[in-house]
Amino acid sequence: MEGVLILDFGSQYSQLIVRRSRELGINAFIIPGNSSFKDIQSYNSKAIILSGGPHFVSQSSTILPDKKIFKLGIPVLGICYGMQSIAHILGGKVVSSPKREYGHAKLFIKDKSKIFNHMPNHFSCWMSHGDSVSRLPKGFKGIASTIDIPNAAITNEKKNIYCVQFHPEVTHTDNGKMILKNFLIGIAKIKKSWILENYIEQEIINIRDKVGKEKSLCAISGGVDSAVAATVVDKAIGKNLYCVFVDNGLLRKGEARKVKEFLTKNTGLNLKVIDARERFLNELKGVSNPEKKRKIIGREFIKIFEEEAKKIKGVKYLVQGTLYPDVIESISVSGPSSIIKSHHNVGGLPKKMNLKLIEPLNFLFKDEVRKLGLELNLPKELIERHPFPGPGLAIRILGSVTKEAIVVLQEADEIILQEIKKAGIYSKIWQAFGVLLPLKTVGVMGDNRTYGNVLALRCVESFDGMTANWTNLSYNILQSISNRIVNEVRGINRVVYDITSKPPGTIEWE
Ligand code: XMP
Repeated sequence: MEGVLILDFGSQYSQLIVRRSRELGINAFIIPGNSSFKDIQSYNSKAIILSGGPHFVSQSSTILPDKKIFKLGIPVLGICYGMQSIAHILGGKVVSSPKREYGHAKLFIKDKSKIFNHMPNHFSCWMSHGDSVSRLPKGFKGIASTIDIPNAAITNEKKNIYCVQFHPEVTHTDNGKMILKNFLIGIAKIKKSWILENYIEQEIINIRDKVGKEKSLCAISGGVDSAVAATVVDKAIGKNLYCVFVDNGLLRKGEARKVKEFLTKNTGLNLKVIDARERFLNELKGVSNPEKKRKIIGREFIKIFEEEAKKIKGVKYLVQGTLYPDVIESISVSGPSSIIKSHHNVGGLPKKMNLKLIEPLNFLFKDEVRKLGLELNLPKELIERHPFPGPGLAIRILGSVTKEAIVVLQEADEIILQEIKKAGIYSKIWQAFGVLLPLKTVGVMGDNRTYGNVLALRCVESFDGMTANWTNLSYNILQSISNRIVNEVRGINRVVYDITSKPPGTIEWE
């Protein structure tokens, strides 16, 4: 392929290397660092990058790349652990640094290597390591240092091997993107071939070839991924794609109507909305345990989806909006992490129903999916939505779920979103919502005593939902949200703000 292959040793930044490469227009694939040489060779890539990772070369359990990669004759770049593993394999010495470097460090370039073209002699870089290279392998020279380590970058230019102890893929490293550009375009001479539009055009052709005249099903969740996945498949097979959106009654106010409007008006998707509000409410009656609620909702959803599938004769495929990070995650050398998969609510479907999968987005990152959604004419409001959990408001109504509680929370939730949007901060926030507490407090309104529920306002900033900080909302925003909710929503007479980050808290309360 005209691109770069990334061997992933489990660094939290590995996916960023793919991102940066694509930003430079370079096609990039990522596979586990301990992949067999045959697998590596099969990509026929023009360069290889070895990522960082949590390992130490001295440990017997460490993961090393196959030595034969150096015989391929293509440029190799090692980053952090990638550098240490190269030094170790090629006969250098890696030792535990007396001082663990983490965070910013000043890098001093000692030798004008090609990898440092177009940049100053010193700049700030991002370090995250415990080991460092103390003796270079034969044929290598040191080309940069920091105050703490003499060999912060080394190279064997004859063999086109470059190693950096710091992370050029993170934005905290000044000139980091230029280093990758120098490597991918200057040294490896890879041609630019990563264009989202081309990728999708090809994907549409592939789906058409694969599916032919067979029928496919897609569960629409109301979120970005399933909407974009369905729209791509619709372009490939049109009316043979059957989309099902289950209105479980646990959605935000007016959500089912909005999703239908968004999708049918803008795409002409073959979409069926199932009104299952009563059904879910009945199943949830009297249940207050959060995990039980989740199980009931998941089970009921699958049942309804199966019922719908049966009505369409001869369905062979299921469309899912799986993204590249989920794919990388599932094949990672460090094993699957605890990321909550956006598609896990339909995860049980293909096995049970004997359907083959179509995953048109499984090579894309979220921001690429958003860009694609806009190109496919999906409305901005749908594309820029905050994530919404599959079990919906059921896990935001603490205790048992009733029709009345749903309405109260929907009203409050709408005010929260309206005020956040009015303040112009919606896109900076990961999620903003209300949690209805099964707790009544006394208040006073006009001359009357009230006895109403408490609503907790939750507003967090996050990169991926795995960690999160509560948002520092201005007093003005807090005041207008609180005033409006207490005045406009019958049943709530007190609003509190949740100032717990994740960890130790979670984003949702249940
Ligand atoms: P927590 O509460 O675990 O949430 O910090 C992290 C992210 O995951 C979402 N979330 C869910 N999404 N089904 C989903 O589809 C679920 O059961 C579920 N629980 C939490 C949550 O909204 C946040 O974005």
